[in-house]
Amino acid sequence: MKEKDWYKNWFNTPYYHILYKDRNDEEAELFIRKITGFLNLPTSTHILDLPCGKGRHSKFLNSLGYKVTGADLSENSIAFAKQFENEKLSFKVHDMRVPFVNNYDVIANLFTSFGYFDNNQNKAVLKNIKNALNPKGYFIFDFLNAKYIKENLISNEMKVVDSIPFYIERSIANGEIVKNISFRADDQNFSFSEVVKYLDFTTLKNMLEEVGFEISSIFGDYELNTFHEDSSERVVIIAQ
Ligand SMILES: C[S@@+](CC[C@H](N)C(=O)[O-])C[C@H]1O[C@@H](n2cnc3c(N)ncnc32)[C@H](O)[C@@H]1O
Repeated sequence: MKEKDWYKNWFNTPYYHILYKDRNDEEAELFIRKITGFLNLPTSTHILDLPCGKGRHSKFLNSLGYKVTGADLSENSIAFAKQFENEKLSFKVHDMRVPFVNNYDVIANLFTSFGYFDNNQNKAVLKNIKNALNPKGYFIFDFLNAKYIKENLISNEMKVVDSIPFYIERSIANGEIVKNISFRADDQNFSFSEVVKYLDFTTLKNMLEEVGFEISSIFGDYELNTFHEDSSERVVIIAQ
């Protein structure tokens, strides 16, 4: 069932975007308003949204006046996002395990877009981000709160979205959080897995420090409420 390189296929399908359709522009706008206000970023700031998916955060950042580059491995998502390009907004296909050519004032890695690879590759992603940031640049890192997930795990769930019943099984084993997703759509049976490394707050902090980041702020949700490892659903880290 578990496919190596699962992230190449699943995120490139239309079904990923159906299942997660509540992760929408409104959610992105709420968070971007909060975080840009908190960081008090000047409009000259160049931001890399990595990975950007279909560009929900990039579009809104750009509408606030920032220069934004969105990068993602999914060719379908980038092809979709390109319709929104303008003088200060561009999108490209890029694998975050590969170093960046340009430098940025801010890099944002949002909505659990980390921990998909082996330890060396995960570390390489953080190193690439650190190397691509200007001095004093900010890294905005929004990851699941692994401890909260473990203590509140819903093992089985059926969710109907756009008339598709998605059967979801969740487990934590061998240092990985695994979500198996099965459904029938367009006259075919599908089965995908999401596999994210179990990285709790202390592990994330150590990984960031290993590549030279210092954490300056930690929040527990998109409203920027205080992080509590026992009860926060997210961990949102600002590092420099
Ligand atoms: C959970 S989605 C989040 C996307 C976006 N940040 C958002 O909030 O909508 C994770 C994204 O990571 C992208 N991705 C997976 N592996 C990648 C890689 N090696 N390099 C760049 N992007 C990758 C996927 O294509 C997908 O769009």
